[in-house]
Amino acid sequence: MTTETLQKKLQDTQTDFLPLQGTDYVEFYVGNAKQAAHYYMSAFGFQALAYAGPETGVKDRASYAVRQNKLTLVLTTPIRPNNEMADHIYKHGDGVKVLALKVDDATSAWQETTKRGGKSYMEPQRLTDKDGEVVLSGIHTYGDTVHIFVERENYSGPFIPGYRAWNNPYFKPAETGLLYVDHCVGNVGWNQMNPRVQFYEEVMGFRNILSFDDKDISTEYSALMSKVMSNGNGYVKFPINEPAEGKKKSQVEEYLEFYNGEGCQHVAMATHNIVHTVTELRNRGVEFLQVPSTYYDDLLDRVGHIEEDLAPLKELGILVDRDDEGYLLQLFTKPVEDRPTLFFEIIQRKGAKSFGKGNFKALFEAIEREQAERGNL
Ligand code: FE2
Repeated sequence: MTTETLQKKLQDTQTDFLPLQGTDYVEFYVGNAKQAAHYYMSAFGFQALAYAGPETGVKDRASYAVRQNKLTLVLTTPIRPNNEMADHIYKHGDGVKVLALKVDDATSAWQETTKRGGKSYMEPQRLTDKDGEVVLSGIHTYGDTVHIFVERENYSGPFIPGYRAWNNPYFKPAETGLLYVDHCVGNVGWNQMNPRVQFYEEVMGFRNILSFDDKDISTEYSALMSKVMSNGNGYVKFPINEPAEGKKKSQVEEYLEFYNGEGCQHVAMATHNIVHTVTELRNRGVEFLQVPSTYYDDLLDRVGHIEEDLAPLKELGILVDRDDEGYLLQLFTKPVEDRPTLFFEIIQRKGAKSFGKGNFKALFEAIEREQAERGNL
């Protein structure tokens, strides 16, 4: 065996202990899950999937699962005070609690990660009903956010035991072309990026595939640093942001202040037709960040030939960036709650595997204009 093969083999055994099939679902703790579910259905085109609550034997909460292609969101609200969910909402406002990952073996995922230093959130538990079984386990990540490992190979029900199929025959909003979770970004506190990178490397076997420092991501006023963590097969990517020193308060600091700690900053959802998706979302009331129209003046000089017409991109404010492998189109919503915290990214990849570095400056200046309006810059 050559040194190179040996190294590769070593690397593989190092990263293989937590094989992930992708994102299973993203769960939000919200003040009013019934209304939040309606928002994601009517504005984003998600479809009713499953419900859990007092009527299904779940006594402390109501949860609505909605789905669009491979994207599943769960909106959960506590129905009594004085519990973990109510405290989470009091402290953070509406936000992401669970980034759930699909695995073959949730027991092994829990054992492998906790033995490497992961802090247990949920010991492996088998949930069963007439449709089979699901095994769940979980560990903590940044802030109060957790990863739940979902093993569902032997389950044919609508979502997870405890849920029942849910749909409303009178309300079936058309889908908007959202397909799957591309990546989920976490905002962490000062000096916390490297410890979190180390967590994803050591506890979960991820690799740091890209890094941006404050020179890459800075405007006249503020800066941030970012490292992108990816699992072995690249299905799961978690960029981690940390604020950096600038003249004024950065967007990550504003997030940390209003989320009252570390948490998920944005979830990027992929589409194969961003012009269609963003047109639909806009028509349904989703608000997006706007870059100045001068962004488009020299766009094609910067990114070269693209297949899309420039006019609709400019009209919708869609951003374009290119890397060695191709290009990508992306756009960011404004925060989807009243605290300036969680937002969504809509992304269409045409070969590019990066994250839109060429758009950072224009984008962060757009965010700063919003921050200034809120009095938080
Ligand atoms: Fe992103």
